[in-house]
Amino acid sequence: MDPWNLSGSFATLDSKGLIISSCIVAVLGLIFSTAVQWYRLSHIRGPLLASLTSLWAYWSVKGMGFHRIVLDTQRKYGKLARIAPNSVMLSDPETLWRITSARSSYTRSKWYASIRFNPYGDSVLSEIDTAKHDKRKAKLAFGFSGKGLMDLEGSVDTQLAVLVDVLKSRISQGQGYAVVDIGRMLHHFQIDLITFAGMGNAWGNLPLDKDHFHALREAVERRVNGGDVKGHGDDMLDEWLKHGISPAEAEIDLSIQAVINEGMRMAPPLTAGFPKEVPPGGDIICGKAVPAGTEVYVNFLSLMRDQDVFGHDAEIFRPERFIDCDDGTKAKRMKVVDLNFGYGRWLCLGKALAWMEMNKIFVEVS
Ligand code: HEM
Repeated sequence: MDPWNLSGSFATLDSKGLIISSCIVAVLGLIFSTAVQWYRLSHIRGPLLASLTSLWAYWSVKGMGFHRIVLDTQRKYGKLARIAPNSVMLSDPETLWRITSARSSYTRSKWYASIRFNPYGDSVLSEIDTAKHDKRKAKLAFGFSGKGLMDLEGSVDTQLAVLVDVLKSRISQGQGYAVVDIGRMLHHFQIDLITFAGMGNAWGNLPLDKDHFHALREAVERRVNGGDVKGHGDDMLDEWLKHGISPAEAEIDLSIQAVINEGMRMAPPLTAGFPKEVPPGGDIICGKAVPAGTEVYVNFLSLMRDQDVFGHDAEIFRPERFIDCDDGTKAKRMKVVDLNFGYGRWLCLGKALAWMEMNKIFVEVS
């Protein structure tokens, strides 16, 4: 008998047994860890599949009906719903104000790593470390405020004039009328405004109807290296640099404000996301114990359709809801619409600019 063949068959037997027992251990381990994860948040209702795997969330986002799914989920399971083994989704303004306030010990969850624009470094929007985030935001805030030398409102007016010119020229080319992709035009408008207000020169996306993203890095490098000879000292980038890094038509009438608020309510720019992590010791949210480390997502869509806040007709577009109510109700409704921009420590830095743009665009283009 060839001793080499014999040892070969033992080796085959051993490795087969090893593979089978490893598979059994792996499957048992997976079942155990899934059961432990399921149990951790089992007192919070949500779709069964979501309580077992993140694939429910993945498939919901991947399809085209995410906006309907988030609304239906919150309607079915209440203001706090489980949407993944370690994640819940929230549609409760009071809790949101509390957990995102400047003194809250909640932190950003690891989800923010997915909105990094640059793989080698964080922006203020993707920074997870709270101390680093706060320090960076303090340096950026002045540049976003429109105070100091820069004229943010003048920048909005200049770019708005370009938008109106482009619209007029399209209408004259179309002999009195034109079909335009207003979404695309407003996207270009926004880029031109930010590059104009931010660095002193608009990229010109709107008149040329095309994007110029590559110009951004070059412009920042030129300014930082001193090669930009533009007479600056009056834009956001300068304000940012000065602070260590690298705000409407006065007479907007009440009804336009109401229409803008109602538009932001019916079609919030963001659907759901921006999860914060429950701090050590856990928390009680909407009467349920939520353990430390759980991700709490905001459901902007459901928040904006909350009948407790906006009334029984919250599903319809009715700007008067911000006018035909008492002052307290009106203030609360507007404060909840404002949650579209986040709140407290993580409040949107571009909020004042965004409101100014909307106020001007609706007056000028309507
Ligand atoms: C209607 C338009 C906008 C909406 C609905 C919006 C919404 C938001 C929200 C919800 C956040 C909070 C993220 C969080 O909780 O971590 C945020 C953050 C931020 N937004 Fe906006 N935003 C808008 C326009 C803008 C504009 C025009 C700019 C810039 C000019 C801007 C710059 C920022 C920045 C820099 C942050 C990060 C703030 C931080 O990390 O503390 N946003 N925005």
